[in-house]
Amino acid sequence: MNKSLAPIILLGPPGAGKGTQARVLEERHGLVQLSTGDLLRAAVKQGSALGREARTYMDAGKLVPDDLIIRIIADWMQKPEAQKGFILDGFPRTQAQAKALDAMLEKKNLKLRGVIEMKVNDPALIERVCGRFTCSKCGEGYHDKFKPPKKPGVCDKCGNTQFVRRPDDNAETMKTRLEAYYAQTAPIIPYYEKRGILYHVDGMAGVEEVTKQVEEVLKRI
Ligand code: AP5
Repeated sequence: MNKSLAPIILLGPPGAGKGTQARVLEERHGLVQLSTGDLLRAAVKQGSALGREARTYMDAGKLVPDDLIIRIIADWMQKPEAQKGFILDGFPRTQAQAKALDAMLEKKNLKLRGVIEMKVNDPALIERVCGRFTCSKCGEGYHDKFKPPKKPGVCDKCGNTQFVRRPDDNAETMKTRLEAYYAQTAPIIPYYEKRGILYHVDGMAGVEEVTKQVEEVLKRI
């Protein structure tokens, strides 16, 4: 099997840096980021039936039901992007999703290349998520403390002056998101550990150091 086509999972709590690292890997390795959070937010923006259903769960910080997410992933797997190597960011998040992913990959004659767990403590996660914002035009990500725009109020990338914050990026919703992570997502870690495909990086380190650690893992797998 061509290992560059085998998918990689970035696993970690909300704000661990999954999206940040997935975008770096996209640029450096030509992989495709598959973020269920981004797919759901696009559906919410379109106002589709799926988006309307998902929104109530997302705004409350709860996981969207498995059947809905599995359908979204199954549809995505039919797209041309899925013919390249991809990085799963935010999926799977439950045992049912992990099993459904295995079945989908088997049908495509693919095997997981590895699962990279990003560990970050709760206070740091809350600080990261509550300070996050993005450019409304080009989507460039920023953080009040860790990555402010070079010129205050102006996007470094496209010069736009409008920014947006996610409705679920607040301390109260973050409490529910963390509870969902520890109750429903963390229990899938042993599933991958038993298969010998689980790797760890120190998500508390700075962005570049985390990238370095992720790259080290990729060299080994
Ligand atoms: P989703 O969009 O997947 O959100 P999440 O898992 O909560 O993850 P985040 O996007 O908040 O964080 P991240 O780990 O990507 O961190 P980031 O790189 O942005 O899901 C949203 C909702 O959709 C869920 O609550 C649920 O309702 C639903 N959903 C999605 N998938 C689902 C599924 N499979 N099943 C059911 N429901 C699902 O970084 C965060 C911030 O920190 C940024 O500002 C960044 O600049 C900064 N940062 C990143 N790395 C570092 C670092 N090393 N040091 C300092 N700052 C850093």
